[in-house]
Amino acid sequence: MTRTVLLTGGAGYIGSHTFVALVEAGYSVVIVDDFSNSKPSVLTRLGRLTGLNKVEAYEGSVLDDAFMERVFNAHEFDAVVHFAAKKAVGESVSYPVDYVETNVGGLTTLLRLMDAHDVRRLVFSSSATVYGDPDIIPIPESAPRSYTSPYAFTKLMSEQILEQAAAADPAWAFGILRYFNPVGAHPSGTIGEDPSDIPNNLMPYIAKVAAGELSHLNVFGDDYDTPDGTGVRDYVHVCDLAMGHVKSLDALMASNLGHTVNLGTGIGSSVFDMLQAYSRACGKTLPHVVTDRRDGDVPVLCAEVDRARELLGFEAKRTLDEMCASSWHWIQTGAKE
Ligand code: WQD
Repeated sequence: MTRTVLLTGGAGYIGSHTFVALVEAGYSVVIVDDFSNSKPSVLTRLGRLTGLNKVEAYEGSVLDDAFMERVFNAHEFDAVVHFAAKKAVGESVSYPVDYVETNVGGLTTLLRLMDAHDVRRLVFSSSATVYGDPDIIPIPESAPRSYTSPYAFTKLMSEQILEQAAAADPAWAFGILRYFNPVGAHPSGTIGEDPSDIPNNLMPYIAKVAAGELSHLNVFGDDYDTPDGTGVRDYVHVCDLAMGHVKSLDALMASNLGHTVNLGTGIGSSVFDMLQAYSRACGKTLPHVVTDRRDGDVPVLCAEVDRARELLGFEAKRTLDEMCASSWHWIQTGAKE
């Protein structure tokens, strides 16, 4: 019997890759997206990639009760995978109320509709930023939570709302996934990260330097207490991350047992590691200038990955070189269409 999943934010960077992984895993997937941070043309690409003649999708906001009621009335959903949210840390500092309204308000609107339609399984897109500046590296899921930005505040509040809802009614089953640093693109080069303005994040910025759209990379500080002085992060290929969502959903469908897991590789890479790996992928020397540290940055974020492996059978396998090669392939092919 086909299992039907509502995928909010399904035209976005991680959402689109998760769409492909869900379809390949045999799920029937319905997308809701307001295209505030994605393009309708992604739907055509998803149809090509999956061989689906028609990608079932609705344009609208998860904040719009009446719109979402129409979507829930049109389908018998078995579960929801929820990506639709704002995700730029810097922007959240400037517009904190917008972030709470969209990220937390969107979640509570969704939960109300799920409750009304007896849809009890939700995979939730959380973030390693709920760990703040952790004392323990690699970071276990049991580490204390805090926040250093309004964005992180919304993810922490959302996790707590889900925890309270599940405690009040055990019929709910939530897969809370804490992403570390998603990067890379689908190997076909058909979908990938497609920032409209100057990227905040490291890999898309380096990609634009490699493409000749930006002159050089600013390395935000080389005086951290790390092997080469630059920030260390746990980069994870977006296709591995997408598979993590399939594994989480499979677990909820099989056992109805909730879980909270890190999605990362457990391997830390510095800014210079990334710069050198991208240089190998594109075959160019990539100019860079060391500048001051960026406010809010922490020295090291790296995941402990045992729980995802034990609970979900999830392991991120792709290497930093594969992440960079897939990004460069996307820049050279898909991003140009
Ligand atoms: C990585 C490293 C920078 C850009 C953010 C969000 C997080 C998540 C992923 C949503 C750091 C350095 C970066 C540049 C640089 N998003 N850097 N020059 O900050 O770890 O995480 O994106 O869930 O919530 O906080 O990622 O890619 O911005 O930075 O030197 O131009 O690269 O200092 O050490 P970050 P990032």
